[in-house]
Order: sequence, then C-alpha cells, then structure tokens
Amino acid sequence: MIVTTDALFRVAYGKYAVGAYNINNMEQALGLFKGHMEAQAPFIIQISKGARKYAGIPMIEAIIRAAEQLYPDAIYAVHLDHGDEATCYSCIDSGFYSSVMIDASHEPFAQNVAITRRVVERAHARGISVEAELGMLGGVEEDIALDEKHAMLTDPDEAKAFVEQTGCDSLAVAIGTSHGAYKFKGQQSLHFDRIAAIQQKLPGLPLVMHGSSSVPQEEVQRINAAGGALDPSARGVDENEFQRAASLGVTKVNIDTDGRLVWTRVHREYFRDHPAEFDFRKPGAVYMEEYARFIVHKSEKLGSAGELAAVREAVS
Ligand code: G3H
Ligand code: 13P
Ligand code: ZN
Repeated sequence: MIVTTDALFRVAYGKYAVGAYNINNMEQALGLFKGHMEAQAPFIIQISKGARKYAGIPMIEAIIRAAEQLYPDAIYAVHLDHGDEATCYSCIDSGFYSSVMIDASHEPFAQNVAITRRVVERAHARGISVEAELGMLGGVEEDIALDEKHAMLTDPDEAKAFVEQTGCDSLAVAIGTSHGAYKFKGQQSLHFDRIAAIQQKLPGLPLVMHGSSSVPQEEVQRINAAGGALDPSARGVDENEFQRAASLGVTKVNIDTDGRLVWTRVHREYFRDHPAEFDFRKPGAVYMEEYARFIVHKSEKLGSAGELAAVREAVS
C-alpha cells in the first residue's frame, strides 16, 4: 500500500528512521519488497531523475505496482529523489508520488527559498509533501580544518528561516555525510552536536540524511578480489549511529550506494566462479536474495524492523 510520506514520518519521528532506497530495475524492487516484508518494516522507494531516464517513467511505476501485487502487505511511500523544478512538477502531476525532493541547495539561499516555495505550493495543492535541502553535502576528510568542516554543515538558524519561508515538510541537512562510495578517509562520525542544534530550532520537523551508505569494508574487499578496482580506503557512515541520529529527528535515511555494492559483488563473484555461464537469471536470483538480506540488516540498524503493524494501525 502506498501511503503518504508524512504518515510514515508521523509514526517514526524521534523513535526510528525510515530507510529510503533508490530503485532502477525489477531485481532491486523485488529484493526491496521481500526484505521489508521479512523485516516487517515500512520503507520509502526513491526514484531519481537518472532512474526515470534509465527504465522509462511508465516502466519504473509499473515495476512498483507489480511488486505490490506480489507483496500486498507492504507499506511504503514513493518519493522523487534530487528533483529539479520541472521533474518535481511532472511527478506531482502524475499522481503516483507520495512526495518529491526539490534540490536547489546549489543555489544561493534566496533562490533556494523561491524555487522550493513554488514547488511546495504546487505539491500541497495536490496533497503531496516536499523535501528540500539546505547546506552543502560533502566528504568531511581528515585534512580539512575544523572551521571548514563546520562551514559545510547546515546552519541551524538558516534552517529555521528556510523552513519558515518555504513551508517544506522535511529538510535534507548536511551533517557530515556525502554521496557515493568515497565519503571519508579514516574514522569519522556524524556531527551529532549539529543535528541536535538543528532539532532544537526545528522541533518536530523530520530531518533527512542523504549519503547514508556504510560502504562496508568487506564488500569492497570482495569486489576487488573478484576483479573490481574500488578504492580500498573508502569509508561510509557507521550504521550503529543511525538510531542516535533518529532520536534527534533524523527520520529518513537515504541509502543507494550500498545496494549497488551488493549488486556488484554478487555479479562479479558469480561470473568469476562460473566463467562459462551466461544465464543472467542465476546471478539475478542470488542478488535478489542478498539484497533482501541486506534490507533486513539495515532495517534492524535503522530501528524500523518490526514496526509495520504499528504503521498499519496508524494509517488505517
Ligand atoms: O543521490 C543520488 C542517488 O544515489 C541516485 O543516483 O542519480 O545515479 O540515480 P542516480
Ligand atoms: P549514498 O550514496 O550514500 O547511498 O546516498 C544515497 C542518497 O543520498 C540518495 O539520495
Ligand atoms: Zn541524496
């Protein structure tokens, strides 16, 4: 059942974080639904502009509808990830999406406000909620001076003004994470002091953490042992920090890269171990199982595992 993103946030806020996973194809969708049913967890499906282009807009929607027929008890929201203004309007008008993200964080503050405000007005008129972004998501590396690190993070006072002026429903914040497999070098931690300061200014507003993949060392090593060439010093977010972040208002945690690593590991190992094989359904089946297992594990770390019954009661 597709529900509003707001409904999921209302149940989860302050208690656990809802995992938001990008999908591009059938295998990802089936692994995602299977994993969440095993974990009994609500979730958010994210569709990026790249995914809409790759699969085609009707195909990506049909994949989700078909997965729901196979897993009718799943409860989830459908969200546009990193939208520009035109893509947000396309998704709002389609009637398929629960929420959209307008990502105008690269614009100066006033422009970000103006663009976000326009999207919010159009989305709210259709009962769709809006995630906006403020701050510069970036790798926080060891050789960056402390002052520079803090300059890249979302400013709590600006965040308050931004939300008041735009009316956005959730806010993606820069709290020390970045996208992709190469976030950190060496040990890093989320900036909990900054998350707490933002929550203090915006109590009750769901915060969104992008760039939340963990980039497990073991996964990188296995990929490289099977012919890959990923940077072995790559580090991601410590998944044991998810629940502390959730207690401070981080209600949506975006994970894409880690799922791509599962896909890459399974397929590299499969074809390394079966060099004469060319039936792609065989590694595909292994991948769906492994991705479902990965989802169960993430749901436990996010605190969303076992929460489905409470969500069902709240939305019915
Ligand atoms: O943050 C972006 C997501 O990982 C989606 O990536 O734009 O390559 O589909 P994509
Ligand atoms: P990762 O690259 O860390 O998986 O982040 C994904 C993301 O933020 C999607 O919006
Ligand atoms: Zn993102």
